[in-house]
Amino acid sequence: MKTATSQSSFNYRLWRYDGAPGELIPLLQSAQDHFGYVPRRAISHISGVTGIPESDIYGVITFYSQFRLQPMGKYVIRACAGTACHVSGARMIIETIEDELGIEVGDTSEDGLFTFNTVACIGCCSLAPVIMINDDTHGRLTPASLRKLLKGYRRKIGESTETAVEAVGE
Ligand code: FES
Repeated sequence: MKTATSQSSFNYRLWRYDGAPGELIPLLQSAQDHFGYVPRRAISHISGVTGIPESDIYGVITFYSQFRLQPMGKYVIRACAGTACHVSGARMIIETIEDELGIEVGDTSEDGLFTFNTVACIGCCSLAPVIMINDDTHGRLTPASLRKLLKGYRRKIGESTETAVEAVGE
């Protein structure tokens, strides 16, 4: 989240950088805290201050799953890939999400609406296979019910956009 504190934390860390090994990860963490992801301009900035080549910084970002190179979508989908969900068809659920949204695990859709990730266990194994969309849990999914669910979210987004446009036009 973007706050004055996260901005100053990022700048402060850059300012006091003294070349100590192990400083890159905290720098990237504070960039992500501030921007919500690690944008290209933050990577250039870090590289300029630390002297670490941008290619090395990208290498670290892509190695650690905690870092994102894209902003999070309005809706964050977490598909459970834990054991109970795995035996109940999690693979099909994951493939359906990828197919329906045209993205792969770890990506954000081009329209910026959906970010898709997998998790180990959501904690409601009796509802397997399970996904979460933001804070809402959806269980006992089939590819067909999942497609319907995702279309519902798209419709909801469309309606809220129309309402906003109408409000502006009034
Ligand atoms: S394994 Fe999927 S919710 Fe536990």
